[in-house]
Amino acid sequence: MSFEPTPEPWPVENIRWVGGCDGWLRLLDQSQLPGREVYIECREIHTLWEAIRALRVRGAPAIGIAAAYGVCLGLQGSFSSRQEIETRLSETIQYLASARPTAVNLFWALERMRRRASCFPEAAPEELRQLLLEEALAIHAEDRLMCQAIGSHGVSLVPHGAGILTHCNTGALATGGLGTALGVIYTAFSQGKKVHVYVDETRPLLQGARLTAWELGRWGVPHTLICDSTAAVLMKHGRIQLVITGADRIAANGDTANKIGTYSLAVLARAHQIPFYVAAPSTTFDLSLSSGSETPVEERDPAEVVHIMGQGIAPEGVRVFNPAFDITPAELISAIICEAGIIQPVNSETIAHVIQGE
Ligand code: MRU
Repeated sequence: MSFEPTPEPWPVENIRWVGGCDGWLRLLDQSQLPGREVYIECREIHTLWEAIRALRVRGAPAIGIAAAYGVCLGLQGSFSSRQEIETRLSETIQYLASARPTAVNLFWALERMRRRASCFPEAAPEELRQLLLEEALAIHAEDRLMCQAIGSHGVSLVPHGAGILTHCNTGALATGGLGTALGVIYTAFSQGKKVHVYVDETRPLLQGARLTAWELGRWGVPHTLICDSTAAVLMKHGRIQLVITGADRIAANGDTANKIGTYSLAVLARAHQIPFYVAAPSTTFDLSLSSGSETPVEERDPAEVVHIMGQGIAPEGVRVFNPAFDITPAELISAIICEAGIIQPVNSETIAHVIQGE
C-alpha cells in the first residue's frame, strides 16, 4: 500500500514489540492517562490478557495489534515438535479471544495469525515463531497505513470551519497509526482546515475526557470537552457540522457497534440534519453478521458506573446496567470511511463493493 504520508507530531508508542521472538510487548497503560504516562511490560500472555480486559490497551485496532503480538508471547519457550507448538498456538488464540467480546479486530488478528501458521505446515517451531512475529509486525504496520488512508479519504467530508463532535477515543492511542475518526480530524487540521472538536467525555470510563482531550491537546487541535448530555444543545445551536466516531464491529448491512452513547448521537444528528460518519478500517467489518443485532455486546462491571475515578457516586447496592457498546443502525449513518474509500450510502451492496470488491 502507498499513501501520502501525514505528519505525526509526536510518536505515541502505545504498542511496541521489543526484541526478537523471545522479546516482549511494551504497552502505554491507557487506564492511567492523562495523569501518568506509565508503560507496562507484557512478558507473558496473562499480563496482556489483563491489559486488554482492563482497557490498558483499548480501541478496536489496538486490541487486534496487541493480540497478534500476544500470540508471539504465547509461543515463547522451546518446542520439540510441530504438533506441540500447534497445540500451544490453539490454546493461546483461544485464551486471548476471551479477553473482550465486541471489537472484531481481536478475532480478526488472531485468525490471521492462525492462517499464517497454517500456510507453513512444514515449518519447524523456531521458523514458525519467526514467521508469526513477522506477521504481527505486518499487522501493526498495515494498521498505520490504513489510518493514513482513512484520514486522506475522510478529509473531503470536513468543511472548513467545522464544529466536529466525536465520542470515545479513536486516535493514536486506539490504533497503530494516527487514528480513525481522530485520524480524519488530524488530517484536516494538518492540511490547514479550521476545525473545532467537541469531545464527549464518554461515561463511564471517560475515554473522551481522559484520552481524546489529551491527544487533541498534544496535537494542538482546538477542542472543548463536554458532558455526553450536552450534544443536543450544541447541535440545536448550530455549533456541530458533523459527527464522526469509530467502530468496534460493522455488520454486513452497515449496522455499527461502537462505544455506548454512539447510537444516541446518531439519533440526535438525524434529528438536527447533521451528517453522522463512522471511520474504521476493513479489519473492523464482520461480514459474517447480516445485521448488528447479532453483535456480542460486552457488559462490564457495575463498579465502573457507581464509581468515578475510584470515588463512589451512587447508593450502595444500586442496580446497574453497563453495556460497553451500542449498535447504530445503518440508516442513521451518512457514510463509512475506510482505507478503501468512502462507503455512501451505507448498505449491504455498497459495503460488499468497497470491502470485498464485488
Ligand atoms: O472500550 P473501548 O475504549 O475499547 O472502546 C473503544 C471504542 O468504542 C472506539 O470508538 C473503537 O474501538 C474505535 S477505535 C479506533
